[in-house]
Amino acid sequence: KKTIMDVDVVGKKILLRCDFNVPQDKATGAITSDKRIVAALPTIRYLLERGAAVIACSHLGKPKGQWKESLTLAPVAERLSRLLGQEVIFAKDIVGEDAKSKAAALQGGQIMLLENLRFDPREEKNDPSFAKELASMAELYVSDAFGTVHRAHASTAGVAAFLPAVSGLLVARELEVMGGALDNPKRPFVAVLGGAKVSDKINVINNLLDKADTVIIGGGMAYTFAKAQGGSIGKSLCEDDKLDYARQMITKAQEKGVKLLLPTDTVAATEFAADAESLVVPTDAIPDDMEGLDIGPETVQLFCDAVRGAGTVVWNGPMGVFEFEKFAAGTRAMAQALADSGAVTIVGGGDSAAAVEQMGFADRITHISTGGGASLEFLEGKELPGVACLLDK
Ligand code: 3PG
Repeated sequence: KKTIMDVDVVGKKILLRCDFNVPQDKATGAITSDKRIVAALPTIRYLLERGAAVIACSHLGKPKGQWKESLTLAPVAERLSRLLGQEVIFAKDIVGEDAKSKAAALQGGQIMLLENLRFDPREEKNDPSFAKELASMAELYVSDAFGTVHRAHASTAGVAAFLPAVSGLLVARELEVMGGALDNPKRPFVAVLGGAKVSDKINVINNLLDKADTVIIGGGMAYTFAKAQGGSIGKSLCEDDKLDYARQMITKAQEKGVKLLLPTDTVAATEFAADAESLVVPTDAIPDDMEGLDIGPETVQLFCDAVRGAGTVVWNGPMGVFEFEKFAAGTRAMAQALADSGAVTIVGGGDSAAAVEQMGFADRITHISTGGGASLEFLEGKELPGVACLLDK
């Protein structure tokens, strides 16, 4: 796909889709992490330095097509301005009079931000009339919102019908690193999957069994696999309607010669609580009144050994309930193993990205995706509407 480096951006008016869907404090509305704003800076700077006039836009939260004061992008404009060290002109509407007049007056080297795209019900409906109005303000569309490329909305896909569309530096890097890992990995390629539910990861497991040499399954979803193999899992999380699926995946791994690693021991607790009494037990013999909340020490060893010998590691989903310190050891050991390995290491967004950052390993990971749902759909091998709409090289 073409990027901003493949086209002439000098002096151009550019509609730039960012993912400024930042977490906010519920009570005060204050931005609690500006990671996504920081991630957009390289593209913004690249464009402004070349004299482009940048009309930035994003959604924030789920206002469902209604104006909602608590979800205005005004605080994002302020933070962006501080980070960039220059004024960010804020439009009080999206494609209304204020936005259109400010966009028309915007000079090269200046940047403005439109109000929350999802205040207009046409955004999520991918209504061409809305896409056309957005496009009418600019000469080129740049997608740098990796977190939303899995959405077929007016600003993420529809707009490409009206403007030449290329990716920004963030989307380009996400596609290059994650695409490279899936299509042409340095082997052995080890995929580490965790998180609570099998149903969230069904297509990811299936797709990665076609690509990886080793697939590791930890976290809550491992108990569905344990039960599928006849184990007693006590009160652990289990999706009974996914037992057949788990068996199919075990068979698929055998047929493909993919090593499928499942937990052999578990840190089981009497209740789902930070201070619950706990015990290390075999994963297939968890006492009836206990539930598994983390992988056990033997499993840590098994999983981390596999990661140590890898050429490429992709990790999505925590190994246990790392929000509780007592049950964070498995996730921490995995983060450490990725950081210490000489492999190309990729952490899919969401919980595992948060864990790696909180635990202080972020700067020793090759790539931490800015996408949550988007990186998951990427790992599923799905076509992403926000990528498919970009110009081919
Ligand atoms: C995200 O936070 O994952 C993206 O900004 C997408 O948000 P959405 O799930 O509301 O579409």
